Amino acid sequence: MKVLVTGASGNVGSYVAKELMIMGEHVAAAGTDIQKLKKLFGDEVETVYFDFTDTSTFDKALQNVDRVFLMRPPHLGKPEDLYPFVDAMKVHNIKLVSFLSLMGVENNTIPPHHKIEKYIEKVGIPYAHVRPGFFMQNLSGIHSVEIREKNQIFIPAGKSKTSFIDAADIGLATAVLLHNPQNFKNTAHTITGPEALDYYQVAEILSKVTGREIIYAKPGFFKYRSYYINIRGLDKTYVNVTVALYFMTRMGTAKEVTNVFYKLTGKKPAP
Ligand SMILES: NC(=O)c1ccc[n+]([C@@H]2O[C@H](COP(=O)([O-])OP(=O)(O)OC[C@H]3O[C@@H](n4cnc5c(N)ncnc54)[C@H](OP(=O)(O)O)[C@@H]3O)[C@@H](O)[C@H]2O)c1
Repeated sequence: MKVLVTGASGNVGSYVAKELMIMGEHVAAAGTDIQKLKKLFGDEVETVYFDFTDTSTFDKALQNVDRVFLMRPPHLGKPEDLYPFVDAMKVHNIKLVSFLSLMGVENNTIPPHHKIEKYIEKVGIPYAHVRPGFFMQNLSGIHSVEIREKNQIFIPAGKSKTSFIDAADIGLATAVLLHNPQNFKNTAHTITGPEALDYYQVAEILSKVTGREIIYAKPGFFKYRSYYINIRGLDKTYVNVTVALYFMTRMGTAKEVTNVFYKLTGKKPAP
């Protein structure tokens, strides 16, 4: 039987697929852009066309699959967008689904991840929720434009701290869960990096590494939202979800440091 990896070309899914293959699992890498998947994995992995918004793609993607890595594409802001696929997983008797959730959602009903977790539990699919802190890759990915072009970190996180984790580490920990479905039935895992930093500290580290003076601009929510929608041209739903997440961050929900990564993998998380 195979493990279906949704978002297999994404930050986390790409590592989940790679780590599962190293463990000897048969992986089906899923997404709407097969060319992107082929470019990333070559012929190493089976690819399957899969679209959360098109139910006609579900049966083929779930053929001979007994475990699933489930992620919510960032632009699908409504939890309901994922429900039809969760229902399909139930019909296909999936024996473990590992959903890429978010640190702190067990106590916070606002981010879509909360309702998605609850729906998986209600439908009755054995689950191993992964609740990571913020990805390090946010800085090298979505926020790298302002760092590169303006020497600024443009994130509305106030003075809060974040226990950043490397997406590669999330991928490895998730693969451990999916490789051992019996051991991790109906569990949840808050996975973080080794320490919590505020964005002034992040700016200091980036300045040291690049040899340039990079500052933390500390924008307010309104300025951030308007900039990312109107100037960067990013999807409104996506930006709105990130505003909610940075609001939570300011409340202190992103600063917890756990040793869950070490417990699952026997390795230390990347600094
Ligand atoms: N960034 C953070 O700090 C952080 C922290 C905790 C949790 N999260 C959560 O992690 C998730 C994002 O994970 P990520 O960063 O690994 O993703 P990502 O790099 O943004 O990649 C998105 C993936 O979704 C796939 N996709 C897009 N539209 C699709 C559709 N309609 N049907 C099927 N697949 C589709 C894309 O593949 P195709 O182009 O091939 O379709 C791509 O592989 C979000 O739910 C976010 O809330 C993020």
